[in-house]
Amino acid sequence: MNIYKTKDYDEMSRRAAAVIAAQVILKPDCVLGLATGSSPVGLYQNLITQYEKGELDFSKVTSVNLDEYQGLGPDHPQSYRKFMNANLFDHINIDLSRTFVPDGLEADSEKACTEYDQIIEQTGGVDLQLLGLGNNGHIGFNEPDEAFACGTHCVELTQSTIEANKRFFASEDEVPRYAYTMGIRGIMLAKKILLIVSGSAKAQALKDALYGPVTPKVPASVLQLHPDVVVVADEEAMKLL
Ligand code: F6R
Repeated sequence: MNIYKTKDYDEMSRRAAAVIAAQVILKPDCVLGLATGSSPVGLYQNLITQYEKGELDFSKVTSVNLDEYQGLGPDHPQSYRKFMNANLFDHINIDLSRTFVPDGLEADSEKACTEYDQIIEQTGGVDLQLLGLGNNGHIGFNEPDEAFACGTHCVELTQSTIEANKRFFASEDEVPRYAYTMGIRGIMLAKKILLIVSGSAKAQALKDALYGPVTPKVPASVLQLHPDVVVVADEEAMKLL
């Protein structure tokens, strides 16, 4: 595991974008596993800037996103598909038909999850998986639990995650209670993992993830078992390390 400490969010975003840019340059037809939320917004802006300067070409890239809220379609302002289009895909030359997000509008959760696992398999596997970290140690929407979940599955969001994500919705009541998420196996099968973490609210979770016991109660702790993880975290997030 390689851990890089940055001064702040902006430096984290620049450094992490360099890891993704290197992946796209080295393997133009790579499969990127992508994340939503506040953590990757600056990183995506950096990638857009490099694309606009002609330094990056996404035309052969495939992407699979970690998760989607159940019940939210691509047109919903808080759906993760909408987020990805607005924050990255609409601004680069990626082929939208090769960008995948779980189908939030598929009410049959078993069908939605099985189909998503098939899509991931058909891509040939994720080369580089980008992850943010939940305040409770979650990755994707793999919430603290008694066991690690394997494949894509439907999760009931914890109160802590609902609290953390309500800032994007008009009220807490509007936060969906369920989401489809790639499982721990899907994440761990990625050849390389890039974890980005910013802010003091994540400090305890980051400490537990990197140096605590490997346990499903801190889902990100499983990353200790992956052979190729890069962590880029700012000073605030690293203050307990
Ligand atoms: C998002 C995701 C989540 C977030 C995590 C951190 O696709 O899977 O695990 O990465 O909740 O969210 P932010 O970055 O908003 O603090």
